[in-house]
Amino acid sequence: MKASVLFVCLGNICRSPTAHGIFKKLVDDAGLNNTVAIDSCGTGDWHLDHAPDKRAQTAALQQGFDLSGLRSRLICQADFIRFDYILVMDKKNLHDVLLLCPEQFKHKCELFLTYANELAVDEVPDPYYGGDDGFEDVIEMIKVASLNLLKEIQAID
Ligand code: 4NP
Repeated sequence: MKASVLFVCLGNICRSPTAHGIFKKLVDDAGLNNTVAIDSCGTGDWHLDHAPDKRAQTAALQQGFDLSGLRSRLICQADFIRFDYILVMDKKNLHDVLLLCPEQFKHKCELFLTYANELAVDEVPDPYYGGDDGFEDVIEMIKVASLNLLKEIQAID
């Protein structure tokens, strides 16, 4: 395994499953499905074992990303050991994840948009209470960060 990547948001039904599905397709298309492990989870427990929000699924599928098989789960202590990259969507997620994370693994936790310096924003905004546009904006940001993350992982020896 070259790298393992965990995407984290609040509910694990909008942003982190979108990142999971988009990054997985890029990894699969690059022929790296056996060398990069991917998962997603949330810091909040309102939607456990739910499929992604229909609006997130629809927006993603329009661009060829199928999120239908994903199910939400909570972050757990084993995640901090298992994953090399723990990539969160916003600063509240980062705060919540760092509260749970043992000191020696804190360096793994980063804002996902750290990998999208070309964007003027550093957080993926929560689209849950907004309109469909919000879901499309999330996808555009996640695509940029995912392409850069994939390049970084491909450069690992
Ligand atoms: P997510 O969006 O963190 O991108 O999955 C949300 C989903 C559900 C809620 C908030 C954000 N909620 O409050 O139930």
